[in-house]
Amino acid sequence: GGIAVNCLGHCHPAMVNALHEQSQKLWHLSNVFTNEPAIRLAKKLTDATFADRVYYANSGAEANEAALKLARRWAIDVHGEQKQKIIAFNKGFHGRTFFTVTVGGQPAYSDGFGPKPGAIEHVPYNDADALAKLIDDKTCAVMMEPLQGEGGVVPPEQDFVKQVRELCDKHNALLIFDEV
Ligand SMILES: Cc1ncc(COP(=O)(O)O)c(C=O)c1O
Repeated sequence: GGIAVNCLGHCHPAMVNALHEQSQKLWHLSNVFTNEPAIRLAKKLTDATFADRVYYANSGAEANEAALKLARRWAIDVHGEQKQKIIAFNKGFHGRTFFTVTVGGQPAYSDGFGPKPGAIEHVPYNDADALAKLIDDKTCAVMMEPLQGEGGVVPPEQDFVKQVRELCDKHNALLIFDEV
């Protein structure tokens, strides 16, 4: 689901046939069992990318929620409880769960629900100096859209993404790309 599936268009015969064929086999298996098409797609994804494992999610929000939880878990397991700061960018958008709206830099979406998930801070997009001032060895992850979408289609300035990468490496923080 989500907005990104619109890139598949509407009613393309290949999509219609795939849906029709699958509807005559299995509707749903939950995540207790795997299934053969899921394994085939996972192999395609790992063959085409750096990754060696795949996690399927129902939406961008759920994928980002998992990425943030994985980052926190990695930091706690490998470095200890003190490494939990997450830094993201003003006007960013990462989904509508409470964790992801809080990491997203639009308070209009995260205010009004009581106490928010903690240790999350924001800096202006394209401001590597502001990030350099805030990031430290207690930073577990930086989350960014390589091209901000909801924030008004804001491309990164030259070298900005490289600088973010370097700052994360310097402070042993994970860099999470939310890329649609
Ligand atoms: C950059 C970005 N991240 C996450 C999301 C959330 O995706 P979803 O609506 O599938 O939860 C969106 C949705 O527009 C998005 O633009």
